[in-house]
Amino acid sequence: MILQPHLDDRLDTLPDYPFARLAKLLGGAPASDTIVMSIGEPQHAPPALVAETVAANAHLWGKYPPANGPADFRQAVADWAARRYGLPAGLIDPERSILPVAGTREALYLIAQAVCGDRGGKRPLVLLPNPFYQVYAGAAVMAGAEPVFVPGQDGSVSQPDFSALPAEALERTALAYLCSPANPQGTVADAALLERSVKAARRYGFVLAADECYSEIWDKAPPPGVLGTCAALGEGLANVLVFNSLSKRSNVPGLRSGFVAGDETVIRAFSRLRSYGGAAMPLPVAAAAAALWRDESHVEKTRDLYRAKLDLAEAILGRRFGFYRPAGGFFLWLDVGDGEAAAIRLWREANIRVLPGAYLAAEDSEDGNPGGRFIRVALVHDLATTEIALRRIVAVLGG
Ligand SMILES: Cc1ncc(COP(=O)(O)O)c(C=O)c1O
Repeated sequence: MILQPHLDDRLDTLPDYPFARLAKLLGGAPASDTIVMSIGEPQHAPPALVAETVAANAHLWGKYPPANGPADFRQAVADWAARRYGLPAGLIDPERSILPVAGTREALYLIAQAVCGDRGGKRPLVLLPNPFYQVYAGAAVMAGAEPVFVPGQDGSVSQPDFSALPAEALERTALAYLCSPANPQGTVADAALLERSVKAARRYGFVLAADECYSEIWDKAPPPGVLGTCAALGEGLANVLVFNSLSKRSNVPGLRSGFVAGDETVIRAFSRLRSYGGAAMPLPVAAAAAALWRDESHVEKTRDLYRAKLDLAEAILGRRFGFYRPAGGFFLWLDVGDGEAAAIRLWREANIRVLPGAYLAAEDSEDGNPGGRFIRVALVHDLATTEIALRRIVAVLGG
C-alpha cells in the first residue's frame, strides 16, 4: 500500500496563481501572433551594459555568492537610494541595511517567514491592499498569519491607509505590504500617507514592507518612497523595509535582481533566514546590477517610451473604460464591467491576452471583488504593437 504524502493544507486555501487561472479561463496556448498583455514583463531592449558586465565577470560563475552580496553591489544600491530620495549621509549603512535578492518576488514572500511570530499570544495579522500583488497573500497564509485585505481609502483605485485601522487590529499586525506605485492600479501613495503608515508601523511594532518595484516608471513626477519618509521623520529606518527591483526599471525581468533595504534588526533576521532558504544573487549578475543602479540614462529612455504609450492610450481610448493615466507603473486598469468576460472576448476575437482584475483582488464582504469590473493591460510592447492592441481592444469592447 502506498501512503499519500501529506501536503500542507494551507496551500489549498490559496486561489491558483493569476496566470494559471487565466490559462484555465482562456484555454489553448497563445499563437505566435498573440499580443500578451497579461503579464508585466517589459519587452523593451535591455541595456547593453548587462551583457557586457556579465561577460566581463564570467570568471565569477565558479564562486558561490555570499548571501549579503558583494560590497560593490550594496554600495551601488545605497548611492542610488541616496540620490533618488535625497537621503542624508549615513541613513543607509550599506553593510547592515541592504540585502541582494533574486527578484523581489521571492523576498516579498520570504519576509513573512521572518517576521510573523505570534502577537501577544494571538495569530498575527498581515495587512495587504486590495487589489494587490498576489504574492503577499501567499506569503501571509504560508507563514501562518491571517491576511487582512484593506480596501483603498477612496475606492478600489486608491491606496489603503493602514493607520486608520482599529487599534486592536494594528496591535496584532506583524507585517503590512504597501505597494506604490500600485500594481494593478498605478496609484501612488503621497508623502502624507507614507508618513502615517511608517508612524503606525513604529507605534504598533510591525514591519512596513514597501514594495516600490515600479518606482522608476512614472509619468509626471517621481513617486515619493518610504526611505524619503524615514529621512524626514528621523529614527533611522526603524520598522521599514523597502523592496525594489531592476525588472521594471531596467527591462531585465529575466536577470532576477532586486534588493531589500531598511531596518538593521529586521535585515539581520532576514539575512539569517535567507542563509537557509533565500536565493543568492550570482556574482556576475550582482556586477551587472551594480552597473545598472549607477546608470540613469537608460531609465530615462524607458520612461519616455512608456509616456509615448500612455499618450497613445489616451488618444485611442479617450474616456472609454474609465481610462486614466496611471501616475506610476505601466498597467492600464480598465473598467469594462465584467473583467473575465472581456478577457475571453479579447482572446477569442482579437488574439490579445489581458488579465481579469478579479484575479488580482480578494472578495470583500461588503463590495464583492473590487477587481471584478476591471481588466489589467500591461503596456510592455513597442509602440507599434501597442497601437495595434489598443485599437483592437476598442474594436472588440466598444465602450
Ligand atoms: C507589485 C510587484 N511587486 C513585485 C514584483 C516582482 O518583481 P521581481 O521579482 O521581478 O523583482 C512584481 C512583478 O510583477 C510586481 O508587480
